[in-house]
Amino acid sequence: MKITVVGAGGNVGSAAALTVAQRDFANEVVLVDIERKEGEKTFYPSKGRALDQWQTSSIHGFDTRVKGTVNFEDTADSDICIITAGVPRKPGMSRDDLLSINANIVKTVTQSLVKYSPDTIIIVVSNPLDVMTYVAWKASGLPAEKVMGMAGILDTARYRAFLADELDVSPKDIQALILGGHGDTMVPLPRYTTVTGIPVTQLIEKDKLDAIIERTKVGGGELVGLMGTSAWFAPGAAAAQMAEAIALDQNRIFPCAAWLTGQYGINDLYVGVPVKLGKGGIKEIIEIELNADEQSMLDSSCSAVRTVFEDLERIQNG
Ligand code: LAC
Repeated sequence: MKITVVGAGGNVGSAAALTVAQRDFANEVVLVDIERKEGEKTFYPSKGRALDQWQTSSIHGFDTRVKGTVNFEDTADSDICIITAGVPRKPGMSRDDLLSINANIVKTVTQSLVKYSPDTIIIVVSNPLDVMTYVAWKASGLPAEKVMGMAGILDTARYRAFLADELDVSPKDIQALILGGHGDTMVPLPRYTTVTGIPVTQLIEKDKLDAIIERTKVGGGELVGLMGTSAWFAPGAAAAQMAEAIALDQNRIFPCAAWLTGQYGINDLYVGVPVKLGKGGIKEIIEIELNADEQSMLDSSCSAVRTVFEDLERIQNG
């Protein structure tokens, strides 16, 4: 099992790569990024981060070989590629501001990946997430079940962390689901949130739960505000969890950005829905029953994603 992480000279990519290595399910993880010139000097962040991570192997106890490169040739025959390449959000910048720059990066990177790994599975992390997943899918020529976006696991992890704090319980016991685009219109579903099967609505007052839901929706922005750049530990770990589910054929049910062809009444859009992840990628898109309010929030979120998609088409068509 060979996993490639593109953009791994950056924070999200290297967090993804290190989590992959620490989980010890792959033989090899390859970190790819461009070199960086400063005056006379040339730096190789992907090689440096890979070496640093490999030097934790005896401490963390993993065998996964960690390699850094600037050449896509070294990614040949990857089973799974995680794309984190792109410019990060700066304070005051919306995810959508990144659209044009990141679309070009994601397209080029995807073409380079499939050139050397024509059967790979692709997990996209670059923002704006749902539309970048579409860009990668189109550039790859791969079937839709092999190209997916990482957002729902991250958003749900934030929601679970906030709930664990509020309820003073283990985050492991919180099960939850968030649908929709990776943006402020995402749709957390309290009706599908439980603590070891106990509906969360029985454990928390409505106003507190509402506040947690609102905080979750802007969870990425909260971190940008604190750090001056976007988050990396949770996004990286979430991408690695998807790779693990696929690599080990775990059939785990996660919210991921998937290509919809009528499910939830939505056509021709990448957006977050529950899927079964295992060998080969997305084995199934799971349609849960939504009430009118939930469906309407999902429809609004899809409209927001569609707007970004249309913006991209306008930019690309001049
Ligand atoms: C976030 C970015 C990675 O939500 O999308 O933190």
